[in-house]
Amino acid sequence: MNNQQPIELDEELERSTNRWMRTGIVFLFMLALAFPLFRLYEPAQRAEAREAHLSFLADHGSDLFEVNCSSCHGARGIGGIAPAVAALEFLQSADDEAIFQLISVGVVGTDMVAYSSDQGGPMTHSQIEAITTYLRSLEEDATSNAMWRTPLADEALTGRDLYTMARTRPGRYRGRRPFIGWEVRCRRGLRQPPRQAYP
Ligand code: HEC
Repeated sequence: MNNQQPIELDEELERSTNRWMRTGIVFLFMLALAFPLFRLYEPAQRAEAREAHLSFLADHGSDLFEVNCSSCHGARGIGGIAPAVAALEFLQSADDEAIFQLISVGVVGTDMVAYSSDQGGPMTHSQIEAITTYLRSLEEDATSNAMWRTPLADEALTGRDLYTMARTRPGRYRGRRPFIGWEVRCRRGLRQPPRQAYP
């Protein structure tokens, strides 16, 4: 008589165990299904995030370039008193690492000073990385310019071309007075870049 109770308990336990096992199997199935879906969508999401990051960097780099570099290299790198860094010839010959280095350490003995703070310049690594990303982003639509190293020597340039190259900053930066002084100083051969990178 006394052993009736434990048997009832066991049945209850078994029912409960079975219930949990069924739930577990369903759950396992859901996981197994979710995994391939995850595998399917994850790379696309990662690529999207990477794209967004690069486009953000390029945007930032574009601002930095127009303010800090276009006075010599022309608006959007079309060239000026310094090489046309947006020319297909340059962008195809220099990889990102090379561009990053050129900006960081400059070209000794020329007006191209070192921009990296490691070299006493005004820019951080991430600012230089942003400019590098920006220049790379121009490659897709870059046009060829055989005279990219000495853009002003091109005799085919019209007065209007020269005006565009010398005007340097595109419209939205017009009126930002502080840079005019810097430009004049730079033309006069005073080679130090400004202490601070703008903006
Ligand atoms: C004061 C004028 C001046 C400014 C400002 C300037 N550069 Fe330059 N840059 C030059 C000159 C001149 C050269 C060519 C050096 C040489 O003779 O090799 C050069 C060369 C370069 C080159 C290498 C091109 C090549 O010949 O292979 C890159 C890249 C470059 N500059 C990027 C930049 C960037 C980015 C900035 C802004 C952060 C900048 N420069 C600001 C004058 C300038």
